[in-house]
Amino acid sequence: MTVPEFRRRKHGEKLVVVTAYDALFTRLIEQAGIQAILVGDSLGVVVQGQRDTLSVTMEDMVYHTRLVTRARRQALVIADMPFMSYQVSREQALYNAGRLIQAGAAAVKVEGGGAVVDRVHAMTAMGIPVMGHLGMTPQFVNQFGGYKVQGKDDAQASVLCTDARALEQAGAFSLVLEAMPAAVAQSVTQAVSIPTIGIGAGPHCDGQVLVLYDLLGLFDEFVPKFVKPYAHLRTDALQALRCFKDEVERQRFPTDTESYQ
Ligand code: KIV
Repeated sequence: MTVPEFRRRKHGEKLVVVTAYDALFTRLIEQAGIQAILVGDSLGVVVQGQRDTLSVTMEDMVYHTRLVTRARRQALVIADMPFMSYQVSREQALYNAGRLIQAGAAAVKVEGGGAVVDRVHAMTAMGIPVMGHLGMTPQFVNQFGGYKVQGKDDAQASVLCTDARALEQAGAFSLVLEAMPAAVAQSVTQAVSIPTIGIGAGPHCDGQVLVLYDLLGLFDEFVPKFVKPYAHLRTDALQALRCFKDEVERQRFPTDTESYQ
């Protein structure tokens, strides 16, 4: 999957995007036929155990992007730009986006509307494809006072449409729409000619993204309404670990089968 192919899917089959942070899951995602992977800064929460994504660094993102791109065969890899890697200046944004591309990503993602438009323009002008991210943007968690649905009133919904058009004009090839009423996401989707990828934004987006550990049922500390667990791997993992402990303690493992003679 390339950026132009992804963009063309606005008028085709729904796009499926999943987050990944390492090589093992990247291989599994590709085996499942999923063609786009987001190295999300959600790794701050699900991998690093932080309360939010704000402490994720460029070094973290470069490291995890390398793990993913080392295993990737065909999928489009998009890497999140972490908090404070693009906010300070256009120059810093460009430099840091370049680092993620050098780590193997084909595109980067930035959060926010009007304030990041000039960053998006600078990056795309230099050949770095950019995905935008509007709505409940986790890097704004303190400003929002928590992880709250955005775009609930007409004024907010209209700002979302304006921001979406501005990001498209600046060169963004796609937009993530997070936690907003389905009707608002539908309006934003109709307002732009680039694909929208929803997460908690209803069924009218051009594609959907979920955090891998959420969809596998591995992370259950905080499960938003929009998450559907398609497996319950946490339960399976717990059961396996308890069995291992039990068998070692009762001297049932290892047996001859697992021993060298
Ligand atoms: O960091 C992330 O995983 C994301 C998705 C939730 C869209 O930004």
